[in-house]
This record gives sequence, structure tokens and C-alpha cells, in this order.
Amino acid sequence: MTKQRRNTPPDRTLLDPIETASRDEIAALQLSRLRTTLAHAYANVPHYRASFDAAGVHPDDCKVLSDLARFPFLTKDDLRRHYPFGLFAVPRQRVVRVHASSGTTGLPTVVGYTANDIDVWARVMARSIRAAGGRPGDLVHVAYGYGLFTGGLGAHYGAEKLGCTVVPMSGGQTEKQVQLINDFGPAVIMVTPSYMLAIADAFEAQGIDPSTTSLLVGIFGAEPWTESMRTEIEARFDMDAVDIYGLSEVMGPGVANECVETKDGLHIWEDHFYPEIVDPATGEAVADGEHGEIVWTSLTKEAFPVVRYRSRDLTRLLPGTARSMRRMEKITGRSDDMLIIRGVNVFPTQIEEIVLKDDRLSPHYLLEVRREKALDELDVLVECRPDFAAGGDRDGAAAELRHHIKSLVGVTARVRLVDPDSIERSMGKAKRVIDLRPKT
Ligand code: DLL
Repeated sequence: MTKQRRNTPPDRTLLDPIETASRDEIAALQLSRLRTTLAHAYANVPHYRASFDAAGVHPDDCKVLSDLARFPFLTKDDLRRHYPFGLFAVPRQRVVRVHASSGTTGLPTVVGYTANDIDVWARVMARSIRAAGGRPGDLVHVAYGYGLFTGGLGAHYGAEKLGCTVVPMSGGQTEKQVQLINDFGPAVIMVTPSYMLAIADAFEAQGIDPSTTSLLVGIFGAEPWTESMRTEIEARFDMDAVDIYGLSEVMGPGVANECVETKDGLHIWEDHFYPEIVDPATGEAVADGEHGEIVWTSLTKEAFPVVRYRSRDLTRLLPGTARSMRRMEKITGRSDDMLIIRGVNVFPTQIEEIVLKDDRLSPHYLLEVRREKALDELDVLVECRPDFAAGGDRDGAAAELRHHIKSLVGVTARVRLVDPDSIERSMGKAKRVIDLRPKT
């Protein structure tokens, strides 16, 4: 049966008016909300007052949007220093929810929401799901984790707000995921792209072709993924795969989302989140179109306003297309995930692109970094596809992959093609790198 795909533009009257507003209207709204946010942060959060004072700036100095660049950054360390509730801008009693992101080292970073913040979040998530092709009345299977992670509850509230029926499955129990997708017939799934692959494998292990499911739209994020991964998922499920971005510190999922009709990068919901791109090394602002680190300022948040939060996510800003709001290009990776192997910068997504071009190889891969005789060595482990694993020429395929990595990324890697199912599957965010170098 052919599916009725959702990749046509929506009826414009269904969109929020700001999605199609002029750039001037958007900028005017941003400036007034930015000034309110700066004043709110300065008046209610001692950290902002101290850091603005130290930088010699006052909220009244923000007369045009570009004045924001005069204000100091907020970093993950600042969040840790004020653990757990020290950056809240309202009394704790007005905070109706907290979330936290675990982080790889040290304390979790804790964020809070007022009732109004939760409502704004649900609205931007509803907008995101609609941009991805979801519609009121759809059944939405949420396989992002519920709990302190913002994925599950963020998706949940947004889908309800749009008028969908939500299945709050959460992550894990992969066979049950398969069963519920089969039995309930969702149109939309929201999950990390790496876990979607594990679900695809589980369908196949049960002898079910994933392309026969009811799924029309997948809304994938919380980790970097490539265009090749999109092609892989879309082909296996016969669906549209759309990118969603967000981070706990700024809100959670729903800061930016791709439109299914264009799939050309993620429209930033600029009425609530103001982006800047800076040079990650110097912190200097760079122009739209230039690559760098995206820095976020919230425009409407009450409990946890963020002013110039250094996300470490690398991307660039592009003009609007399907919506008036600017787009961010698919994220290459985080500056702190970038490996430097003998002087060459390597992102896991670069390896993913190359691996997925070879139809003998599966999308399950892992990078291991070791220090041997004072030199860094990169091992690339990739699972073979089952049909190739049986009797294919692994040495030949490994040599080809090694050659492509050398010529396209510039690094010499050792490639190991391993059996299907031998690399651990993630239930949420995939771990792509194991760094075995001694800690300095
Ligand atoms: O991952 C929020 C989220 C949940 C987004 C579900 C999308 C879907 P954190 O756990 O705080 O929040 O992690 C945020 O994840 O700074 C990026 O490095 C990464 N990230 C999130 N979305 C994307 C994406 C959630 N679409 C961190 N592409 C961010 C690449 C992403 N990286």
C-alpha cells in the first residue's frame, strides 16, 4: 500500500502568524522581548547582575538587537557554580517543573519552568510537530526518554497541545516499541535517530518490513545525525525524517525544527529564542552564513532566562525559506566532541557520512581513540550489514573505508568491520566515541 506522505506545504492559515511575518515584524518583537528578558535577569538573578556589572553593561544599553553582543556569555560552568537553583529568576515556589541534563562530568545542570514557560514550550513543540508534518488527530508515539531528560515530556506536551493522541512509550523495551507501533498504528514517532535504527533492526528481527508500518513522519533529534542517516531511515520506514533541535538550558526540544516540505535546515522559533553565531575560540560574533558556535538568548522565559548561553553546538545561520524565521544548518557536532587526531579535526558525523555511502556497512559505528607511543590512534568500528557479514570480503571493504576516511577527512584510521549486533545500541543519545587516552 502506498502511503499518503506529509511532505507538502501546510495550509498557511494553520500556522502561527509569526511564522510567516516579515523580518521587520520579527525583529521588532525580538527587541522588545530581549529588553524585557535582560531587565528580568538583571533584577532577579544575582549572577546576571554581577556579570553585567563586571562587563560594564546595563539592560538599558540594549537599544538595537546587535547590542546584545556587548553582554557577557553564560557558560555551563556558570550553571554548575549555581547548582541547583541559583540561576532561577522567580521564587522556587513558582517553578512547576525542573529538568536536568546529566553531562559527562560533574554535577547535572538543573533548569526550571513556570507554568507559563511550560505552556510556551508546549506551543513551540506543537509548532515543531506541525512543521514536521504532524497534524491534530494524529497518533504520536513518543520514544524519547521521560524523566529529567527534556525529550519525553517536551514531545508529550507539544503533541497534546497540537491535538494529537500521545503514546508515552519512553525509551527502551525495544520489542515492545515494535509491538505498540504495529498495534496502535501511529502516524508520527519522536525518538533519537540512533534509537530509531535499533527499532528498525528489531522490526526486521521479527520478520516485519519496517516500511509497512503506519509511520509517516519521524521527528529525530537530541544528537547529531547526517543526511545519509536521513536517507537510510526514510528508505527503511518509507517515511519522512525531520530534524528537531533543542537543549535543556534553553528549553528542551523545540528550539528549532525542520519543515518537512523543504528539509533544508531547522527553522529557529525566533520569537522565543534569539541565536548568535560566534567564533568558538575567540567568542567574537560572526556574520550569518559563517560557521561557528551557536549562542542562545531566551526571549520569553520566566523561571530560567538565559542570556548568551554558549551551547558548544557548531552550525551556521541561513535565511528563512518555508518560514520567515532563520534556519540553522544541521549540526556538525559539538566543539567538545571534536576529536583532534594527530592534528586533524574529526567529527563522528564525518565518519557517519562515509560509512553510510557503502551499502555493505550498517549505520552502527563507534570511534575509539587510544594513545600509543605518544601518538593518538583512531579505530573505526563498523558493523557489517547481515547479508555482507556472512561471506563478504571484509578486508577489502575495510581497506576501502580506510582509504575514503583518509582522503575525505584527512586522518589515518584503523578500520575494523565487526559482526552485526556487536556494537552496543543506545536507547537514547548514542555514544559515538570512546576516548581511551589517559586523562591529562
Ligand atoms: O537533547 C533536547 C532534545 C530532546 C532535543 C529531544 C531534540 C529532541 P539536552 O539533553 O540538554 O537536550 O542536550 C542538548 O543535544 O546542545 C546538542 O549538542 C544536542 N542536540 C540536540 N538536538 C540536536 C540535533 C536535548 N537535532 C544537546 N542535532 C545540544 C544535533 C542535537 N545535536
